[in-house]
Amino acid sequence: MSRILITSALPYINGIKHLGTLAGSMLPADVYARFQRSRGRETLYICATDEHGTPTELAAAAAGVDPATFCAEAHRVQHDLGRRFGLSWDHFGRSSSPQNHRLTQRFAQQLWEAGFIEERVTQQVYSRADRRFLPDRYVIGICPHCGYEAARGDQCENCTRVLDPADLLHPRSAVSGSTEIEIRDSKHLFLRQSLFSDKLRAWIGEKRDRWPLLVTSIALKWLDEGLQDRGITRDLEWGVPVNAFEWGANPDGALPDIEGLAGKVFYVWFDAPIEYIAATWEWAEAQALEAGKAPAPDAAWERWWRAPEAADVTYVEFMGKDNVPFHTVGFPCTLIGLNETRSATGAWTPSSNAPWKLVDELKGFNWLDYYGGKFSTSQQRGVFMDHALELLPPDYWRWWLTANTPETSDATFTWEQFQVQVNADLADVLGNFVNRILKFCENRFEGVVPSGGEDGPLEIKLHADVLAKLRELTEHLEGREFRKAAAAVRQLWVLGNQYLTEAAPWTALKTDPERAAVGVRTGLNLVALFARVCEPFIPFAAETIALSVGEAFPCRWPDQTGEGLLTALPPGRPVKAPDVLFRKIEDSQVAEWRERFGGPEGG
Ligand code: MF3
Ligand code: ZN
Repeated sequence: MSRILITSALPYINGIKHLGTLAGSMLPADVYARFQRSRGRETLYICATDEHGTPTELAAAAAGVDPATFCAEAHRVQHDLGRRFGLSWDHFGRSSSPQNHRLTQRFAQQLWEAGFIEERVTQQVYSRADRRFLPDRYVIGICPHCGYEAARGDQCENCTRVLDPADLLHPRSAVSGSTEIEIRDSKHLFLRQSLFSDKLRAWIGEKRDRWPLLVTSIALKWLDEGLQDRGITRDLEWGVPVNAFEWGANPDGALPDIEGLAGKVFYVWFDAPIEYIAATWEWAEAQALEAGKAPAPDAAWERWWRAPEAADVTYVEFMGKDNVPFHTVGFPCTLIGLNETRSATGAWTPSSNAPWKLVDELKGFNWLDYYGGKFSTSQQRGVFMDHALELLPPDYWRWWLTANTPETSDATFTWEQFQVQVNADLADVLGNFVNRILKFCENRFEGVVPSGGEDGPLEIKLHADVLAKLRELTEHLEGREFRKAAAAVRQLWVLGNQYLTEAAPWTALKTDPERAAVGVRTGLNLVALFARVCEPFIPFAAETIALSVGEAFPCRWPDQTGEGLLTALPPGRPVKAPDVLFRKIEDSQVAEWRERFGGPEGG
């Protein structure tokens, strides 16, 4: 059985994440990780904060602290919120970790020595008013490709093309708005991505039938436009230092220019994906420390990432669509450049060291909007993770966000839809079912799973219907089709309700107690089944439900053969109705929240 390695795009350290970020990477990755664990697969779900770059420096300055202090606190806050949302990370690391410093420098050094990195003198945007270089999105101007007025220096959000700050027409500072901008020469390292075009095209071609169309079309669009070499260093202080003096010579015998590169750091998009690997190393260290035997041998984390030990690992990445280019082009270039060497004639051969694993399955998502517009931190528009948990328990959010995952198109959050769906699915269908059958069992069957009676046609039909739906659900989750999976879970709940209505043990009790016993026993077994299938989606409620019928938690995913599907609970076992599982969201709450967080009129 294969092992499953899961990563979700690393959230920027800066600011608390809104529901769109949760819905478009961390939450689906968690649903998938929980599902795989409950199937008994060895699963590792890795995430981390993405800490480097200009935004961090500016946010730290605004808060009056140094970047390291700022990041330590912001990491703590994001870690805590993730945990409270039930995100079952095996490790939530930090891209500023010593492990990531080591790996990033080591990788860059190897890429230099293999001839995939070269030095260039570039023109950087310097703001006299701000007295600093303005990298990436801190320069705003007109997109040279599509004419969009407010394009940022790293990427045009209108045409999605990746830009260089110096490409922008009529540049101005995003920090101060100043147009007192000059271009200064600065030496930087470039990853020679253009050498990798054919390699990447062949690799993405192999994935074409397996990856979502959204993903392959973005990747191919990039390749079709012609791959540009990318600057992978920046004139900043907060980041992984370039440390050129430790490096060896490249194939031409050249050594990096020590003085010209002094004081620079790697570009955040170079070191952040490496943190997927480094965070696995952090995880191994933490494991070893817990077991009282630090430091961890490299083999402890490399077994997830490097051949030959990682041969049985399926590596699955989750991310929003804006991240796709960096994961189908940027990061793969880094890894291929470590795994293979290229001769002057363009022939590729495997390098002598053990190869690093490239992504196997890549799930990309569209956007989740707020009333058809963007979530906005600056305008306080939309719902952020901390506020969400002040209003309602995590499962309400997890359920709605998974059932409305922006998969084939963008999706929109509205309080009205949220209320309708949560009330219907969680309160009326699931909550009501669990409560109804358990209360009845307490009142009429002394709160134990009844014995006696035999399955009749109703139960036989139920078994067949439930099994078919369960298989469908399992397939959707294996295929990372989250909307369809949530729909299948809901349909299972509906099947349960329909059964109870037809079996009507409350009526049968008067004339045929054995029939009533079958109805109650089957109903209780449905409760146990629901706990198992809803655990990936709504783990907190799943635990309460499992415990109400005396089942262990975390659950095991139900057997696909149908064996014991609705007969797992031993007759005689005590059961107990839980407190109200889901309270309905009231109209008055919706009105209040719309007011507080902004509604359709908010723009
Ligand atoms: N921080 C980036 C974002 O939120 C994602 C980084 S993913 C990584 O868009 F792999 F590169 F780390
Ligand atoms: Zn553009």
